[in-house]
Amino acid sequence: MRTIKFGIIGCGLMGREFASAAARWCHLLTPSARPVIVGICDKNTDLFGWYEANFSSITQSTTDYRELLANNEIEAIYCAVPHALHKDIYIDIIRSGKHLLGEKPFGMDMEANRAILRTIDEYPQVLVRSSSEFPFFPGAQRVARAIENNEFGHIIEVNAGFLHSSDINPEKIINWKRMIDINGEYGCMGDLGLHVLHLPLRMGWMPETVYAQLANIVAERPDAKGNKVACQTWDNALINCRVKTKEGQAFPMTCKTYRIAPGETDTWYIEVKGTRKSISYTTKYPKTLLSMDYEPGGGQEWRSEDLGYETAYPCITGGIFEFGFTDAILQMWASFIEELATGSPGRFGCATPHETRQSHLVFTAALASQKDNKVIRIA
Ligand SMILES: NC(=O)c1ccc[n+]([C@@H]2O[C@H](COP(=O)([O-])OP(=O)(O)OC[C@H]3O[C@@H](n4cnc5c(N)ncnc54)[C@H](O)[C@@H]3O)[C@@H](O)[C@H]2O)c1
Repeated sequence: MRTIKFGIIGCGLMGREFASAAARWCHLLTPSARPVIVGICDKNTDLFGWYEANFSSITQSTTDYRELLANNEIEAIYCAVPHALHKDIYIDIIRSGKHLLGEKPFGMDMEANRAILRTIDEYPQVLVRSSSEFPFFPGAQRVARAIENNEFGHIIEVNAGFLHSSDINPEKIINWKRMIDINGEYGCMGDLGLHVLHLPLRMGWMPETVYAQLANIVAERPDAKGNKVACQTWDNALINCRVKTKEGQAFPMTCKTYRIAPGETDTWYIEVKGTRKSISYTTKYPKTLLSMDYEPGGGQEWRSEDLGYETAYPCITGGIFEFGFTDAILQMWASFIEELATGSPGRFGCATPHETRQSHLVFTAALASQKDNKVIRIA
């Protein structure tokens, strides 16, 4: 099987997730190629030990990502660094001719995203995709298929969201994700928003108008020395959208990105309600898909179905078993590698640069809506 040699830039939380997925590639039954991690880069050299202990394939560990980009052995990069660095590092990666799976939000703001996308246009031979793993959950895939098959009749409303409670503790020490100069003005939308929008955008549901309510609930946090410092990022965003499909149907869509949602650790959900069918999926109950089919005059009963391990990319896991976060990461990687190896991702592709641009248009409109308390039309 073809191997694709990878470098990782940013060896923190997400860098390790990718490495771990690459380490269990044997889980996939029919991959067209296999990633092999040969280089790692982080400013923090303390992180190298875990990688070097677990991946004998690593021959280069460096604190300077340019050294990784100069390594001719490396074909592709996974980059998971703080948002303020996306623009410069992603542009340098693309210019080096290496393929890129970058983390969201793909630029800290609209200007950074535009600059990255301009560079992508200059290097059409380079495959560039953004990370967004939740649509690879079996329940999310079922929702996508039902939309593609036009099963809903007239769509009444769509609700999508991603809820965390990781910032509910006001004593949690501030980190870069809560600093406006590193995480960006989008705050929770930059952190969580592409996860929420990826599937709706893939279905062609680009919002026409946006009205947003953004909240900064914990405005001060302790720093590492215990001093209280300002925490200016938005904690929660409720984005009310009007969507018009290419068939001319219009419906409301709510998108919630909450860092402070009591009781929710990492809950991604999507719900589509229509005159003929409704469907509801949440990772809170990861194997349960709720759906209702309605015939005029008939009853209205929600049906609950256990999904099991139904994946876009076949795996060794038995069909009755449960699917989880790390499985979604593996599926997303399978999609990227499939596209890299064959030119097509098959069942479901990773988020595209165009979709990241659409998400930035929504977040930027949400900021403007909050500022002036008005509805913003997205051109
Ligand atoms: N897909 C997901 O589910 C998911 C989840 C969390 C975070 N993310 C995204 O992943 C990215 C990174 O987030 P994280 O949670 O892994 O953060 P993290 O802080 O755990 O890791 C970031 C790493 O980048 C390193 N770094 C900083 N400057 C660098 C430089 N100049 N060169 C090389 N390395 C440098 C840091 O030392 C750190 O180890 C962000 O874009 C974030 O939005 C995605």
